[in-house]
Amino acid sequence: MGSLADEPNTLYFGELRFSERAKANIKEVLKRNYVIAAGPEVEAYQREWGHIFGYKHNVALSSGTSADIVACKTLFDVHPKARRSLNLADNEIIVPALSFVASGQSILEAGFKPVFVDVERETLTINPRKIEEAITDKTRGIMAVHLMGKPCEMDTIMDIANRHDLYVIEDACEAHGATYKGKFIGKWGHMAAFSSYIAHLICSVEGGMLSTDDGRIAEVAASIRNHGRKHGSMYFDHERLGGNYKMHDLEAAVGRAAIENFWETFNVRKQNIYWMMEATKDLQGVAHMNIEGPNEVICPHAYTITLKDPAQYDIAQLYTFMNNNPVLNIKAKRNFGAMPTQHRAFEFMGHKVGEFPEAEYVGTYGIHFGLHQYTTPEQLEKASEVLHKFFAENKK
Ligand SMILES: Cc1ncc(COP(=O)(O)O)c(C=O)c1O
Repeated sequence: MGSLADEPNTLYFGELRFSERAKANIKEVLKRNYVIAAGPEVEAYQREWGHIFGYKHNVALSSGTSADIVACKTLFDVHPKARRSLNLADNEIIVPALSFVASGQSILEAGFKPVFVDVERETLTINPRKIEEAITDKTRGIMAVHLMGKPCEMDTIMDIANRHDLYVIEDACEAHGATYKGKFIGKWGHMAAFSSYIAHLICSVEGGMLSTDDGRIAEVAASIRNHGRKHGSMYFDHERLGGNYKMHDLEAAVGRAAIENFWETFNVRKQNIYWMMEATKDLQGVAHMNIEGPNEVICPHAYTITLKDPAQYDIAQLYTFMNNNPVLNIKAKRNFGAMPTQHRAFEFMGHKVGEFPEAEYVGTYGIHFGLHQYTTPEQLEKASEVLHKFFAENKK
């Protein structure tokens, strides 16, 4: 079987190619003949991760979802009012209505009630002007999701959080290396969750990281990663609820090679996104696409298109056009959908369509596709051609 590189007519969301360094790292792990979770390779991976972004403590985990779950669970130890309860609604975490489903689901899995807040259509991130009205005496934290690599308005969010004694978790799964007002995302809040799944800028096959400058949060997170074990005590001594969220040495071996190339990957992906932003400038009248404000550096995660006027173009037609195009099959995906109202998984919470109009709009009329480090100049040209052809020929 060939690799994805043998399919130049398909633009996948992301690709994993094992560099020589990754192969050498894996061989080293195999030589040891045992692959322990959270072992020596993981330790090195955590250290090296900390060096690129300047996070003091880094806890490697099995996925970005695990990172979100572990981040939320730490609040039971660090937030003075958070108490374990059989009633989820006793502890709330605010989260944008629009995100990959892991954000909302992780809050529930950790034992909190997610309280959804609408997003802004242009930025796809939580609308800070709507956060305060969602705060109650049960609110323990805010999960700010830097969706599509676009930083949230972190200074405003931190100001709200500080005034209400809330912890801020940055879901930075799609935002490695992004900055807001000159500071890396993940340095604004109390902790940040990252994913190293294939679509992301650092890939360890599967994996995640919880980064924080707070030693206590890191200590609690490391315990939660391993079923809430008490550090340094007799083996089966569990002082808090946790789970098995461990990364293992083989994943860390792949991740370490990705860290080594991080800025190279970042710059190539950024060039690709900038190229597409420039090439599709003339389509700005019909669609919202990636934007970068003066105060930020966006992470080149993916390219997003949200129709400005659904009366003019049909999003389902665009999706089919992109995914089955003879010029270039662009593996586009829906812009996630509003978690509380557009996914049956959240139906039990009782929200009704119309409560989150912006998230629902983006979830209905938006799609995105990958422009990654292995996307070729030919693929970029062809992707732009496909988009221009669609908008030129398919007006209703
Ligand atoms: C915003 C967001 N949060 C959480 C996750 C979960 O990460 P993972 O797929 O590694 O579990 C993702 C995944 O891509 C994501 O995009």
